[in-house]
Amino acid sequence: MASLQHTQPPVFFNTSDNIGNAWMLTGYDDAYFVLRHPEIFTTRGSVGFPRSPDDWFDFIPLEIDPPQHRRYRGIVDPLFSPKAIAKLEASIRALANELIDAFIDRRECEFTRDFGRPLPVSVFLGLMGLPQDMRDTFVDWAVGLLHSQSREVAGNSMRSIAAYLKDVIADKTRHPDDGVISTIVHTRPDGEPLSDKEVFGFVFFLFIGGLDTVFATLNNVFLWLAENPRRRQEIIDRPDHLAAATEELLRVFSVTFAGRLLTQDHELHGVQMKKGDKLTCILPAANYDPAAFEHPQTIDFDRPRKPMLAFAGGVHSCMGAHLARLEMRVCIGEFLRRIPDFRLQDGCRIEYYPGGVVGPKALPLCW
Ligand code: HEM
Repeated sequence: MASLQHTQPPVFFNTSDNIGNAWMLTGYDDAYFVLRHPEIFTTRGSVGFPRSPDDWFDFIPLEIDPPQHRRYRGIVDPLFSPKAIAKLEASIRALANELIDAFIDRRECEFTRDFGRPLPVSVFLGLMGLPQDMRDTFVDWAVGLLHSQSREVAGNSMRSIAAYLKDVIADKTRHPDDGVISTIVHTRPDGEPLSDKEVFGFVFFLFIGGLDTVFATLNNVFLWLAENPRRRQEIIDRPDHLAAATEELLRVFSVTFAGRLLTQDHELHGVQMKKGDKLTCILPAANYDPAAFEHPQTIDFDRPRKPMLAFAGGVHSCMGAHLARLEMRVCIGEFLRRIPDFRLQDGCRIEYYPGGVVGPKALPLCW
């Protein structure tokens, strides 16, 4: 991602299979311009999951342009505000310790399976008002949907998730609680409830947006921690500085992109882009833009504060950013407190998943 800054021009056209046939942007200021101008760069239809044209639904709120977008964010923003999220800290800490208890004496773990995936899934289930005994099933669905190279497996996962969520939505309609799903089901933003399709697209998007991103970021960060004992010690020695360290790690290990569609012709750096063209802001590369961050490849926990783009910005800036930051901070803090010295298992080979969220498939650690 960092190398894109000097191997590619700030705007180039990518014809590759994965996120291809789209303009790619690597600059920090260019990304902000795109993210702040939804009238030129719309998110309509930008989520790449297969949906039947006969039974279309929008992924809410990401695929909705302003001003309607505000209507949806207004429903859930209070549940994800810094104040609401801060109340989860003790339970996330307890959960992190419970997971560590299960493997600490073994002196090894597969970080992704034993910690990186179950933790955010449990937090998510709690917030949504879903039963904790669904944890392993949700992990399987998320992996099947987001990382299978087989369209059949991805399609089956998508159908399983859809069927389950539809049942849950029906259940929450009859039995309200204080979870996010129930809030969405029972809200009446204009005096009317949301339609079944709106509720479904909203809840489904939270599942897609809030799990894989946290898994991948945790994996990237813990791979780096395993390989950099001196930097790890630096974090351990400055517990009061953990929030700043987490922010810097989120900058260098950001995992995802922002896809848009042009609503009109637009010129950028002399490049003529046409109405209907696709465009992707490569946010992980923009976070290495030397014009925005001095010596961007240096991981500097004392870097002057400047917004980084891991959570995008502008209209669709990540709704789960406060939650994600808290999960990251607690996971790093608790893991390093309990297991301060760890490394990659001998002979392991780190492989990455192709696709829209960048992170290793598995992370075998020992201590
Ligand atoms: C480290 C973890 C995370 C990262 C890196 C991340 C990244 C992002 C990015 C880049 C966007 C903007 C996409 C775009 O503009 O096209 C976004 C939007 C969003 N994220 Fe996150 N995210 C994370 C965690 C979460 C969590 C935990 C949740 C919720 C449980 C969540 C919910 C959302 C939602 C609902 C949106 C759409 C916001 C809107 O359209 O207004 N994210 N996220």
